[in-house]
Amino acid sequence: MTGTPTDAPVVPGGPPLLGHALELFHRPLDFLTSLQDHGEVVVFRLGTRPAYMVTDAEVLKELLITRHSTFEKGGGFFESGMELVGNGLASSNGTFHLRQRRMMQQAFHHGRMSGYAQAALGAADELSDTWREGQVIDLAREFSGLTMRILARTLFSDLDPEKAAEICRCMPLLVDGVARRAFLPVDFVHRLPLPVNRREAAAMRSLHRTVDGIIADYRASSLDQNDLLSALMLARDEHTGEGMGTQHIHDEIRTMMLAGTETSATTLHWAFALMSAHPDVEERVHAELAEVLGGDPVHHSDLPRLEYLGRVVQEILRMYPTGWLLTRRTTVGTSLGGYRIPAGADVFFSPYAIHHDPPFFPSPERFDPDRWLPERARHIPRHAYLPFGAGVRKCIGESLAYRETTLVLATLAGRWRLRSLTGLPPRTTLRPKEKRMRLERHTR
Ligand code: HEM
Repeated sequence: MTGTPTDAPVVPGGPPLLGHALELFHRPLDFLTSLQDHGEVVVFRLGTRPAYMVTDAEVLKELLITRHSTFEKGGGFFESGMELVGNGLASSNGTFHLRQRRMMQQAFHHGRMSGYAQAALGAADELSDTWREGQVIDLAREFSGLTMRILARTLFSDLDPEKAAEICRCMPLLVDGVARRAFLPVDFVHRLPLPVNRREAAAMRSLHRTVDGIIADYRASSLDQNDLLSALMLARDEHTGEGMGTQHIHDEIRTMMLAGTETSATTLHWAFALMSAHPDVEERVHAELAEVLGGDPVHHSDLPRLEYLGRVVQEILRMYPTGWLLTRRTTVGTSLGGYRIPAGADVFFSPYAIHHDPPFFPSPERFDPDRWLPERARHIPRHAYLPFGAGVRKCIGESLAYRETTLVLATLAGRWRLRSLTGLPPRTTLRPKEKRMRLERHTR
């Protein structure tokens, strides 16, 4: 759209004081996918406050790439949750974000990936050794624990087991705290002397102490231990040559623990729920593992040859992107897609809704890994697939997450099938509803 910006269409409905908040809370996926019927940029209400939603892939490109500097991170239920992670990469803005991003990028350099992959392979192997034929496991718990252990080892390769256990004990409390604040952004409630708030504060203090201790040990040894923390400590600002201070490293560690654990755990959970409901896909994964690995354990260098498994991961992230609703806030009055947006407005976008738009993804509810075969995928516009976001705020851990998910899947699916207890296909929800599944040993 060109010419003078106009007002964006308003989504009807919603009671006066609550607006569309109840609909977003109770049936988020239906609500989000329905918004594109009203326009490319639409206004809905969260409580009494207007919120803007971008529903079109081309306008998203404007928001995230071509005019990103007008829209900073923040808004919606994002800010209150971020209070717990400090001024890390996911929550900072402007020149500070750019400087941190450049330095953090050095820690995610391609050359460091095979070292990080070892952490994922080792932890997946150990998890597999604890599983028994016929055992019923709680997938959410197993995979949360696994991805937390993987991240702890990726960050600190040679961590003493007591400190590792303390980090893994405190982390779920931090994750829950962020989620509670996001859905109940009423500051004083989280400061009341309630048992849940006291537990959270104690966990935060302990996490702080433990991580501070680890940083001090690393500073004292000044060796590159081939892990993320070493990389952060070695990173230098290319203009000033300065490194990161202890508080900045601290905030980045908490940010990564938050951004890089539940996201990967939920993706792994969906992978097993979907493979169990689609035996044809599971069969092809097994056949590929047998052909590529020939019975040997998977190695980082096998990844390029695990093409089908790669498509399975891509398709899971299309159907169930863990970042299903993301927000920005306008820094000045502006326009987007030809629609007027005031300064300080919350602007939302939903990778879930875009990933379920039939013109880009025919039969969007169908789990179809082969839609990512090169000859079919070339019809999908770049900005219609955003499981890791896009532009300057794109997930810095994308490559790590992709490797971790694929290597863990290859290790576990090569040895185990997970069987549904209900026999029902997974429902389209934000998280898999089937939390418990039965283990069956897979023999080649
Ligand atoms: C399957 C796993 C993952 C998914 C689906 C995912 C998804 C995302 C998405 C959608 C964003 C962009 C948010 C926005 O635009 O507002 C993001 C940002 C981020 N992710 Fe991930 N992520 C995953 C794993 C990881 C891992 C393993 C790490 C680190 C170890 C990580 C660290 C970050 C950080 C630090 C940011 C903020 C980047 C910035 O603002 O500059 N993520 N992630």
